[in-house]
Amino acid sequence: MDSIQALKTRRSVRAYTGDPVSREVIEDIIDCGRLAATANNLQPWEFVAVTDRRMLRAIAESTDYGGFIAQAAVCVVVLCKNTKYYLEDGCNASQNILVAARAHGLGGCWVAGDKKPYAEKVRRMVGAPEGYKLISLLALGHPVEELQTEKRPLSEVLHWERF
Ligand SMILES: Cc1cc2nc3c(=O)[nH]c(=O)nc-3n(C[C@H](O)[C@H](O)[C@H](O)COP(=O)(O)O)c2cc1C
Repeated sequence: MDSIQALKTRRSVRAYTGDPVSREVIEDIIDCGRLAATANNLQPWEFVAVTDRRMLRAIAESTDYGGFIAQAAVCVVVLCKNTKYYLEDGCNASQNILVAARAHGLGGCWVAGDKKPYAEKVRRMVGAPEGYKLISLLALGHPVEELQTEKRPLSEVLHWERF
């Protein structure tokens, strides 16, 4: 799948077959996160790839809208040092990871991290040092279904020269 197709067809997938995803594919997907743009090239992130089923369940139970993490093949926990643009940087990496997963034929869904009451708990669960911010929990796996979320049309959101 080329990158334009991956970008245009990515949608949140919250149901997974249970089939594993190879370490090689997980590494390639996270490598795409690693290469995202960051303010001042600070690259303030760390990625924790969680595949242990008990840990996946524990993370899922800590969230409010991420119960499906328990069934994912992997949950990529994206954390950033508390830099000025940590949120923008971490979100950039998160989106790259979701698009890369799509390009590998996988489904994924972003579960909120930053500003959530469980952020500190999850940080401790994965052993990240104090001061790191939880950006996102990215559930990935082989998709059970393809969903088509409604999107606002380009003609409505694109303004040439002025709003
Ligand atoms: C910052 C952020 C937080 C999100 N948090 C959750 C979440 O906690 N649980 C969930 O099921 N989906 C979550 N999502 C996924 C959105 O619900 C989804 O992206 C949106 O409905 C648009 O659908 P699409 O991803 O298929 O385009 C989150 C997405 C973003 C960008």
